[in-house]
Amino acid sequence: MHKIRERTGERGASLHVSPDRGNVQDGRVFRSPTMTSSTSPQTTVVMAAQAPTHFPDRPQFSGFMKPCRLEGEVSHLEVHGAIPDDIDGTFYRVMPDPQLPPFIQDDPWFNGDGSISAFRINDGKVSFKQKYVQTEKLKREREAKRALLGKYRNKYTDAVEFKVRTTANTNVIHFNGKLLALKEDAPPYALDPETLETLGLHTFDGQLPSLTFTAHPKFDPKTGEMICFGYEAKGDGTPDVCYYRVAPDGKFLEVVWLVAPVVGMIHDFAVTENFVLFPIMPQVCDLERLKQGGEHWQWSPETPFYVGVLPRTGAKPEDVKWFQYRNSFPGHVSNAFEDSSGNLIMDIALSDKNVFFWWPDAQGNAPEPSSIVSQLKRFVIDPKSSNLHLADPEVLQEDNSEFYRIDDRFATQPYRHCFYDMLNPALGTDFPGIAHQLGGGYPLYNSLGHLDLQTRKVEVYFPGRTHMVQEPVFIPRRGSGEEGDGYLLALVNNYATMSSELHLLDTKNFTKAQAVILLPVRLRQGLHGNWVDNDKP
Ligand SMILES: [Fe+2]
Repeated sequence: MHKIRERTGERGASLHVSPDRGNVQDGRVFRSPTMTSSTSPQTTVVMAAQAPTHFPDRPQFSGFMKPCRLEGEVSHLEVHGAIPDDIDGTFYRVMPDPQLPPFIQDDPWFNGDGSISAFRINDGKVSFKQKYVQTEKLKREREAKRALLGKYRNKYTDAVEFKVRTTANTNVIHFNGKLLALKEDAPPYALDPETLETLGLHTFDGQLPSLTFTAHPKFDPKTGEMICFGYEAKGDGTPDVCYYRVAPDGKFLEVVWLVAPVVGMIHDFAVTENFVLFPIMPQVCDLERLKQGGEHWQWSPETPFYVGVLPRTGAKPEDVKWFQYRNSFPGHVSNAFEDSSGNLIMDIALSDKNVFFWWPDAQGNAPEPSSIVSQLKRFVIDPKSSNLHLADPEVLQEDNSEFYRIDDRFATQPYRHCFYDMLNPALGTDFPGIAHQLGGGYPLYNSLGHLDLQTRKVEVYFPGRTHMVQEPVFIPRRGSGEEGDGYLLALVNNYATMSSELHLLDTKNFTKAQAVILLPVRLRQGLHGNWVDNDKP
């Protein structure tokens, strides 16, 4: 074996790794005599001479989850049914898709390189284009012809020192003429919306005040402003949260620095007309654990579910109130708004159990994955209250659901329609028949739901017995201002053909597909995406 490169840590120190911790599972870890000195005996990571030639034989790299690693274009995708003429725009989505086998054997599936898919729909036809985000990680690994990045959000396990180690794999948004590929551990990468060429790391011309940028910025449909934040905003393990608003032309309007009560994951957040809300998962980070080569996150059963509430404009750091609810796991937000009494209504996925079961508690306890259920729940929060303990939320939807999408023209406002992924085995999925192709590590959803919050009626679209759905997007019907009037578009995994499909539903006829569009390839499970209409500047 030979040492391809040593990672030089902060202040010139090398990586401290205890060999018997086994934290670099596929590489070699040993005490390097060259690094031993009387003042600072060090241990360094040296990777095996031979880079892994295939992906680990693990569920997250098998079956449908086998990395695709495809860049290219296909025009005139096959269409079954008819795509309405009034649909004209592009569906962008991003998936974690490692270009090279990791040297971490049990790497989580979402540690892969961000790959952007663009589906252009016009004149009843669909074309497909896909490209990787050219991150520093991707480019340097391509040059080295092997993986160099270590564990998910643990720079102390990397084989080299990165300036920015993000994979840009969690969400892709369109803002101020650019696509921004997002992951919450770094600034965005900007891309050309037409060519998907990477333009580079995007710091808003140096205005970005934090080291991190959320994967779930919100847009005010009236003003076009983008409302964002970064957590661990001063670096790994810091409790600092940086809140900011950005004008449609990219100019920063406001920056407020907060200190969270715990260094926990703040994946999604909520925005009303006058407030922002920061839900903190009881998955907590500890810098010493990172330095030991451990996981970034650990479930903390003692930690409550905190919700930070801050005025949206003109706030000072001391204005934040940290409300709390009993230990539970908050997922994605559907929407938030203010009622006539000035209460904040936040609709959010909530589970009693640790949904990120692959990051257990300090004793190694994690729930059995099949026992985890997330439901859409409604918190009512009085921002003026001095009682910081939240009342039990109302269950809006009994089903196991996630990845809520709304008619974004009603974001931050009272709303009626919610669309989402749901899992209901009773719908008839052929689990025994497809089990060997499912792969693993990601949650399964076998249907799309539409909840009418006024009538509480639920409609369900079941795509087929050998199918699972990814996150949908809502497309407004051209010329209609009616909330929820339009189409729902979702990428669907077909385990019988081992290829991907787009299913297009008319929201006025939700239970039957308007069109099914076939891809000649399989796209791995993705995370988030957005519809960009062609009338958008
Ligand atoms: Fe997300």
